[in-house]
Amino acid sequence: MTVIGKDIIRAKETLEAGDLVGIPTETVYGLAGNALNPQAVSKIFETKNRPSFDPLIVHTGSVDQIQAYTTGLLPELAELAERFWPGPLTLLLPKKEIVPDLVTSGLEQVAVRVPSHPLTRELLLSLDFPLAAPSANPFGYISPTQASHVVDQLEGKIQYVLDGGKCEVGLESTIVGVEEGQIIIYRLGGVEVSAIKEVVGNVLILPQSSSNPKSPGMLKSHYAPRKPFVLGDLEQLVPYYLEKGEDFGVLSFQKKYENIANENQIVLSESGDFKEAAQQLFAAMRYLDQQKVSVILSEELPEKGLGKAINDRLRRASAK
Ligand code: TXA
Ligand code: MG
Repeated sequence: MTVIGKDIIRAKETLEAGDLVGIPTETVYGLAGNALNPQAVSKIFETKNRPSFDPLIVHTGSVDQIQAYTTGLLPELAELAERFWPGPLTLLLPKKEIVPDLVTSGLEQVAVRVPSHPLTRELLLSLDFPLAAPSANPFGYISPTQASHVVDQLEGKIQYVLDGGKCEVGLESTIVGVEEGQIIIYRLGGVEVSAIKEVVGNVLILPQSSSNPKSPGMLKSHYAPRKPFVLGDLEQLVPYYLEKGEDFGVLSFQKKYENIANENQIVLSESGDFKEAAQQLFAAMRYLDQQKVSVILSEELPEKGLGKAINDRLRRASAK
């Protein structure tokens, strides 16, 4: 049985025994294990059904702790760390030998992040090892943004989920690295592109690709509900599906639709607030996926600010 609670000592002892714990972060919940213990790391891959070529993010409680696992902050990235850590930013840094190859899927660089969620920071600062933690969902499914989401899918597979409430950001971290002096964004996320540009100037956003071995998390069909997820113009899609007489769910940005049962539609943010929309997104996708509908209809948000990262997730959810 999987227990949900707020007991940091219990989480710490479970992790010290080499077992896994669901942990809250400001982005999404993670499935955490001792990053320096290959057995614990294998458990993460097994529990998630995750292919071994998809590397994990290593979480630490402070920027200082990163020195033990990497050759240090690359000069190009130091300012980003200063500005956004603790927070929803992941940096790719050359790894030290102490980090098992399993964590990085054999890559020379390790993805590191200092999360800001207070419970998890306290946990990390109490441990003498960092935590490898992918999002705590089965591979390919929607990321969990509250403790109950973790249990919905990993019930019985892990002993404990540390309950930190609803995730404040609701989207995974932005992943940034540098190649030959060029700053690259590998995954859009909780830190907006414009905020990164403000700090480092020009950045390259790596186009979505399922064949890029450097960033396996860019796999196209990711964050996907089990039901067909159709992305388009709701003003056209809704009447079309109403006409068809099929039961469908609607995930809209601001607008509520008439003639559709309340329980089958979710508005991400009535006031058009991107932050609120990001917070709601994954819970909304999960909810509609569990409704008695055969298809979920949705629309893109304006392509600016956090809208970019939200659209990225929506597109992946709709990719087949
Ligand atoms: O917000 C987040 O980042 C959450 C929370 C739990 O911290 N974690 C998360 O992990 O989203 P995950 O495993 O779902 O996504 C990690 C992605 C991988 O799919 C890969 O794209 C990238 O991070 N990644 C990890 N290590 C890498 C490496 N060494 N080189 C390139 N990309 C890496
Ligand atoms: Mg994930």
